[in-house]
Parts: sequence; C-alpha cells; structure tokens
Amino acid sequence: MKITIGSDHGAVELKEEVKKVLAELEDIEVKDVGTFGTEPVDYPDIAEKVCADVVSGAADKGIILCGTGIGISIAANKIKGIRCALCNDFYSAKMSREHNNANVLAMGGRVLGYGVAGEIVRIWLTTDFEGGRHERRVNKIMALENK
Ligand code: RB5
Repeated sequence: MKITIGSDHGAVELKEEVKKVLAELEDIEVKDVGTFGTEPVDYPDIAEKVCADVVSGAADKGIILCGTGIGISIAANKIKGIRCALCNDFYSAKMSREHNNANVLAMGGRVLGYGVAGEIVRIWLTTDFEGGRHERRVNKIMALENK
C-alpha cells in the first residue's frame, strides 16, 4: 500500500513518529511531502499535496497532520474525491474506515500522544470498508461534490 504523509509545523514530530509506525508495518511504501522543520507553513498547502496523490492514485491513502488536525482536515475535505476523517481516538479510526471509507486520516500533533497516534494509524490502515448500506451513504457524500 502506498501512503503519502504530510504535516505542518504543528505536527512535524508526530509525523516522524507515525513514519516509524509505518516502517514497522508490512508492504507500506511511504512518501513524505513535508514539512521538514519548525518554520511555519500553511496547512492547506500540505493537505493539497497529500490529497493530490490520493486523487491521482499515486497513493492509496493519505495521512495529514497539523496542530489540532482540524484545519488540515477541513482543507482536505474541500478537495474532490477526498474523504478525510479527523481521528483522535480508536473508535473513530475504525468507524471512519468501516462506515465512511475514509481515504485520508487526519490527526492533531498537539492533541495526541505518540502511542495513541500510532495505534490509530494501525487500526485505520488495517480496517476495511464494510460497504452495503454504507456504500449508498458514501455515494451520497460524493454526489455533494457536484451540487
Ligand atoms: C498552526 O499554528 C495551527 O493553527 C495548525 O497546526 C492547526 O492546528 C490548524 O488547525
């Protein structure tokens, strides 16, 4: 599975921790689009870079991080084809895959401890979409992009 990851300055350290978790998982190829330092950057730019890979198919899924995870998830959900879920707990991570078929995971670097964040990533990457009645609802979400 190909994963593109990115963060603003509010979550650079969490990004490195998440990359360690990804390195422990099997068959994961990671592309890091930055940022790579503590110099402030604008989180919509990071969301755009990661989501471009998801929309084009260059990545199967995306992981985006900012201080709270809020701004970057809002930005990502403006992009056609993106279903970004801000998950700061295990249950949301599981449900965002099973029910919402989220293709981008957002987390907050100033919200989560590394252990919790790592487990969220593991759950999110190993949980499949359930389809069925959820497929109809996800299709309706995607139809909103054209209204
Ligand atoms: C940057 O200071 C901060 O606003 C950003 O990381 C994020 O928390 C926005 O939602």
